[in-house]
Amino acid sequence: MLGEAPVVVKQAWYSADGMSELERRVAIDAARAAGHLLRDAHADTRQIAYKGTPTNLVTEMDARAEALVLDRLGQAFPADAVLAEESGARGGTSGRRWIIDPLDGTTNYAHGVPIYAVSIGLEQNGEVVLGVVFDPNHDELFVAERGGGASLNGEPLGVSRAATLDESLLATGFPYAIRETPDTNLPEYAAFSVRARGVRRMGSAVLYLSYVAAGRLDGYWELRLGPWDAAAGTLLVEEAGGRVTNLAGGPLDLEAPAIVASNGRIHDAMLRVLKETRTRPSS
Ligand code: IPD
Ligand code: CA
Ligand code: CA
Repeated sequence: MLGEAPVVVKQAWYSADGMSELERRVAIDAARAAGHLLRDAHADTRQIAYKGTPTNLVTEMDARAEALVLDRLGQAFPADAVLAEESGARGGTSGRRWIIDPLDGTTNYAHGVPIYAVSIGLEQNGEVVLGVVFDPNHDELFVAERGGGASLNGEPLGVSRAATLDESLLATGFPYAIRETPDTNLPEYAAFSVRARGVRRMGSAVLYLSYVAAGRLDGYWELRLGPWDAAAGTLLVEEAGGRVTNLAGGPLDLEAPAIVASNGRIHDAMLRVLKETRTRPSS
């Protein structure tokens, strides 16, 4: 039709047969059920073990929450592959993979701090197409679908409008192997602390990403995450209008994420600080 502006239709990841609705529903139900299991058992969880270093904890509840999620997903989608933090990888035949962190914020959980979440991402043809994060303590459900936007308890999400580091609230985390690795994130933390309004360290990568998507945080970086920390949360940020890259501004490697996630406006400033800090010889 001449003279009319072209209608731009956002390409959804799901097929016309409405398959995404089932994936979305099962993932949300699983995240909610696992979150409630974690919350209800929180007061009496004192069985703590160590994954390699004394700073890397795991509780009996990480495994129980994961088993619940795997059971729900396995029953609904037996042909899909899985990558779950505690039990590892299971192959599939469908070309799809569920990426699960059953309890993000284990150190908080083990100490009785109610800041943790369940994260479930679905990858299809190498890209995350569905992300679900549930925070049982605030009853907050974050959902993103590729091409379909991001929401918090059903309300659309958008990133913040902060344009400078000066007016930004950032977050970060530190490697569990901080006593052994030379790449501690401490110089980066110092550099951002004197440039931003504040830098938070709350102990849940999944919630940092969800909060960037919700406009509560303006940016987040961390030197090394697991795929399960990043899968759902990065889609939330992107679908809320933000930007996610590696530390140099290139595409994120979901297998070994080194991550910068932001509202987009402060992204280049964050990359500049990281570049300056990480190329400066340490004294
Ligand atoms: C950790 C948390 C923490 C982040 C670590 C993650 P976990 O996940 O998200 O905030 O700094 O990099 O490994 O072990 O609690 O699932
Ligand atoms: Ca995690
Ligand atoms: Ca975890």
